[in-house]
Amino acid sequence: MTATETAIATVTLTIDGQSVTVPKGTTLLKAAAKANIEIPTLCYLKELAPDGSCRMCMVEVEGGRKGGLVTACTEHAKDGMVIHTQNEKIRNSRRFVLDLLLSNHKLDCFKCPSNGDCKLQDYSLEYGLLETSLHGRRQPANQQDVTNPFFDYDPEKCIMCRRCSRVCQLRQGRDIISISHRGFDTKMLPCYGEDWDESMCESCGNCVSVCPTGALSSKDQRHFRTWETTKVRTTCPHCGTGCQVDL
Ligand code: FES
Repeated sequence: MTATETAIATVTLTIDGQSVTVPKGTTLLKAAAKANIEIPTLCYLKELAPDGSCRMCMVEVEGGRKGGLVTACTEHAKDGMVIHTQNEKIRNSRRFVLDLLLSNHKLDCFKCPSNGDCKLQDYSLEYGLLETSLHGRRQPANQQDVTNPFFDYDPEKCIMCRRCSRVCQLRQGRDIISISHRGFDTKMLPCYGEDWDESMCESCGNCVSVCPTGALSSKDQRHFRTWETTKVRTTCPHCGTGCQVDL
């Protein structure tokens, strides 16, 4: 590659006062990571295509349109961009996102199997939200689905990040999980019917391992606390295929 081609293939931008050069097409999230700047995310997962659904990763583009706020996981870095990842406007935006999520979220953290291992809980504490300020209609209560032999699903804890369905497609090459229905009735269901027994789910655990809240929890999780365990890369114990999974 010639020097000119190399110059065209990279962009240089400023993030929180630091100059960063990255390949063209790099997202702001990855550019910030290169500068050791961490941006909060909920729906983002490194190996998956960005979903852009949670809006937690908002950053400010100086002089940008629509108030300058963009999602760092989907916006590409451009030459000369000046980005801020921490200021009052961004903090208020992230607090509002968390407030909305908590307004439709079961707040029983002490009883939740993911207590202490929940990104929503971590960010709520970090952004000073112990409860929602928004009160109105919520998801119907007590709709837990415990029919899967390996995991339980609680729609009242689901933030609709779709990590579970996306990871099922990517790692397993399957399309077992769908996000069905609309509005407050939206929930995760097995494709081809509402019964896990009739689905092609092999209980590999990939979906549970990437859930950022306690919406999906392994049935085994009831017998220990998260901080008493260590995640290891291992072979899924539920079938003979030999898939590797973080459990
Ligand atoms: Fe960017 Fe969810 S992490 S929108």
